[in-house]
Amino acid sequence: MYPTHGLSNGHHGERGGTFMDKRLGSSRRDRGRSRASRGGPRDSRDLELKTPPCTDFDKAYFNSYAHLGIHEEMIKDRVRTDTYKAAIMQHQTYIAGKVVVDVGCGTGILSIFCAQAGAKRVYAVDASDIAVQAGEVVKANNLSDTIIVLHGRVEDVQIDEEVDVIISEWMGYMLLYESMLGSVIYARDRWLKPGGLILPSNATLYLAPVTHPDRYNDSIDFWRNVYGIDMSAMLPLAKQCAFEEPSVETIAGENVLTWPHVVKHMDCYTVTTHELESVSTRYRFKSMMRAPLHGFAFWFDVEFNGPTVSPSSNVTATFPESSSNDHPIDYCQRKKRPNPNEALVLSTAPEDPPTHWQQTLIYFYEPIPLEQDQLIEGSVTLSQSKENARFMNIHLEYTSGGRSFVKESVMR
Ligand SMILES: C[S@@+](CC[C@H](N)C(=O)[O-])C[C@H]1O[C@@H](n2cnc3c(N)ncnc32)[C@H](O)[C@@H]1O
Repeated sequence: MYPTHGLSNGHHGERGGTFMDKRLGSSRRDRGRSRASRGGPRDSRDLELKTPPCTDFDKAYFNSYAHLGIHEEMIKDRVRTDTYKAAIMQHQTYIAGKVVVDVGCGTGILSIFCAQAGAKRVYAVDASDIAVQAGEVVKANNLSDTIIVLHGRVEDVQIDEEVDVIISEWMGYMLLYESMLGSVIYARDRWLKPGGLILPSNATLYLAPVTHPDRYNDSIDFWRNVYGIDMSAMLPLAKQCAFEEPSVETIAGENVLTWPHVVKHMDCYTVTTHELESVSTRYRFKSMMRAPLHGFAFWFDVEFNGPTVSPSSNVTATFPESSSNDHPIDYCQRKKRPNPNEALVLSTAPEDPPTHWQQTLIYFYEPIPLEQDQLIEGSVTLSQSKENARFMNIHLEYTSGGRSFVKESVMR
C-alpha cells in the first residue's frame, strides 16, 4: 500500500502531495535474465490479454515507490509482514520446489520469504527503481540463483514459463485505492498454472457507521471559543478542511456503532478487472447505541487460503457477493465473516491491532443524533477515477431520522 499522499491524515488533517508529487525521475534498468526479460514475443495466452498502457500517472506512482521510507513503513508494520511470512510458511509444502511470481516485490522481502520456504525460482517484479535495491539485497543474501529480479511492469516483463504461486501485497487504503489488484489479475491470467496458489486468496472491504466526538470537538468545536474569542465564523472552512476528503486514521472498536456491512468480497482466483472499476452496494444499519453519528469507516481484511479453497468450494459459495448485498442486515449482525478453514487473516479492523493502513473515515459536515436502534440506510459507490484509475471516487448516500444526504469525495 501507499502510505503518505493527499488524503487528510488523522487528527491534524494534514495535506501532503499526492503520490504523483513524489517523483524521483531516475532511469530504469533492464534486469532480465535467461528465462525472463522485458518485452519480446508472447505465447497464445499472452495474446488474449490486453496490456494496459503505462500512463504518466503510473510512472509517477512507480516513482513514489522508489522512496525508502515507504518500504520501511511497510516492513516495520509487523502485523502485515509477520502475517505474510506466516502465510508463506504455512503454505511451505506448496511453495517448496515451485515457481513463484512476486507481483510488486519492493525490497524483495516476500520473494526472500518464498526462497526461504524452498521455492525453486522466484520472479521478483517491480516497476519502481526500488527493484535495483531488491537485486542488491538478493545478491547479498546469496539468493541470486533462486530469485530473478525483473525491473519493469508486471504487464510488460516476459516470463517464459507458467508459475505455481503468485504472491503480492497489493492492498491500498480502503483496499481498492491504488488499483494494484489489476496487476495481480494480469499476472494470474498470464502465468498461473491451473490449480496454482494465490496469496492472499481473498479480500473483503467493510463499512460501518462511527461516532467520534473527540475528533469532531478537536477539529470543529475548537473554533467556537479560541482563547475566549468566538471564532465560529471559521466553522464552515474548518468543516471543509477537516472533512472534505477521506481521512486515514486509527479509530477504536468503541467508535463503531454497529457490526459492519460487507461492501465487496473478492476471490483473487476469479475476480476480474471489470468488477473493480466500480463497486456499489446498499446498506442498512441499526445503531446499537444512542450517540451522534459522525460518519462512516472503511476497513478490510485479506485471507491466505490454499488453492483447495477454490471458487466452487463451500467457503466462497456461502459468502455473500456484493451484488447480493440487498440483504445486508444479515451480514451486519456478524462481527466478522465466517472463517471455517481457520485461514490466516490480515485484518485492518478497528478492534484488531493497528496497521499502517489504519482505517479510512468519511466524515459528515454535521453529525446526526442517533437513538438506539435507529436505522441508517443508504448506498455507497466506489469507482476508479476517469482522470487516474489509481484515484477513487466515493459516492455515499445516507438517510436517517427522515433526512437524506449525499456526500461525494475523492481519494487522490
Ligand atoms: C505495497 S508495495 C509492496 C512491496 C513488497 N512486496 C513488500 O511487501 O514490502 C507494492 C509494490 O508493487 C509495485 N508495483 C505496483 N504495481 C506494479 C506493476 N504493475 N508492476 C510492477 N510493480 C508494481 C510498486 O512499485 C511497489 O514497490
